[in-house]
Amino acid sequence: MQILKKMIIGTASISLLIGCSPLEEKLLLVGSPHSSKSTSPLNLSKENAIWDEFFIKKEVVVVDEVENQEEGEEAPPASEEQGEQVEPSTPEEEAIPVVANPSTITVMVNKFWALPEGYRPPDLIRPNVPFSFGDEKSDRSKLRQEAAESLEMMFADAQSEGIELYARSGFRSYETQNSIFQNEIATFGYEQAVLYVARPGTSEHQTGLAMDITAKSVNLELVESFENTVEGKWLANNAHHYGFILRYPKGKTNITGYAFEPWHYRYIGVEIATEIFNKEITLEEYMGDVREF
Ligand code: DAL
Ligand code: ZN
Repeated sequence: MQILKKMIIGTASISLLIGCSPLEEKLLLVGSPHSSKSTSPLNLSKENAIWDEFFIKKEVVVVDEVENQEEGEEAPPASEEQGEQVEPSTPEEEAIPVVANPSTITVMVNKFWALPEGYRPPDLIRPNVPFSFGDEKSDRSKLRQEAAESLEMMFADAQSEGIELYARSGFRSYETQNSIFQNEIATFGYEQAVLYVARPGTSEHQTGLAMDITAKSVNLELVESFENTVEGKWLANNAHHYGFILRYPKGKTNITGYAFEPWHYRYIGVEIATEIFNKEITLEEYMGDVREF
C-alpha cells in the first residue's frame, strides 16, 4: 500500500509539473485548488493507519478541548491524565503537494493535498448561532464570511422547525490543529488518531469552511450516535440547501481516509453541495481525485 500511495503522490506531483491531465482539467472547471503548480511541500507522515480495523467504531468523543488551553483555560495535558509522557510516535515523513489556491471556496484538502504553511483564511467572522461553549470569543467560533452567513441561515431554518443545533468547532489555526492531533495520539494512539483528526496542515478546519455541529441530545459532544438524532438527520437531509456537505460519510473511509463523522459539515456552495448530496458521493469523487486507501 505504501508503494502504491507513493506512486500516486508521485504521479500527481508530476502531472502538476508538466501541465493539466484530464483530471486537472476537471478540477480547473470547478475552480479547485489544483489549478496550478504546487509549491512548498509539507512534510507528512507516510505511515498509514490499518483502516480495516477501524471501519466499525464505538462511540468516540473527539478531543477538541485542547482549544480551551489556547483560550487560557486550564486543561491538563493528556500525558498528565495518563501518567505518561506525550511522545506520539512520529513515523517517517514525506512531502505531499500543497494546494495552489487555498482561499477558493471549493478548495479540497485531504490526506493528499495540504494547505500552504501559515495559511489563514482572509475573511473569518463569528456567525450568530448558538455555540456549545457559549459566548466565548475564540477562533473556533469563526468561519469564512460566506460559510458563516449560510450557517446562520441553516441554524435559523432548523430552529423554525424545532431543531436546535449548536456549533462546536469551526476555524483552527495550524497550531491548534497540531495540539488536537497530538492530544488525540496521546489519548487514543496513532492509528486511531489519524482516522479522526487531520494532521496539521491538512484539516478542513484550517480553511475556515468547516464546522462541527452537535445538539443537546448528545450532550453537545461529537459522537457517532448524532447520526440517529433528529438534529443529525435534519442536517444530513438539509445541509446541502445551504451549501454544506457531510464531508466524511459512512462507508466512504476508503476514499476520504477518515471515519464517519456525522458532525463535520463543510461549506462548498449550494450547487456543488446539492450535486454531491444527490449523487451520494464524496468531495474526492466529485473532483475526480479518488485514491483508495
Ligand atoms: N476531524 C477532521 C478530519 C479534522 O481534524 O479536520
Ligand atoms: Zn470537523
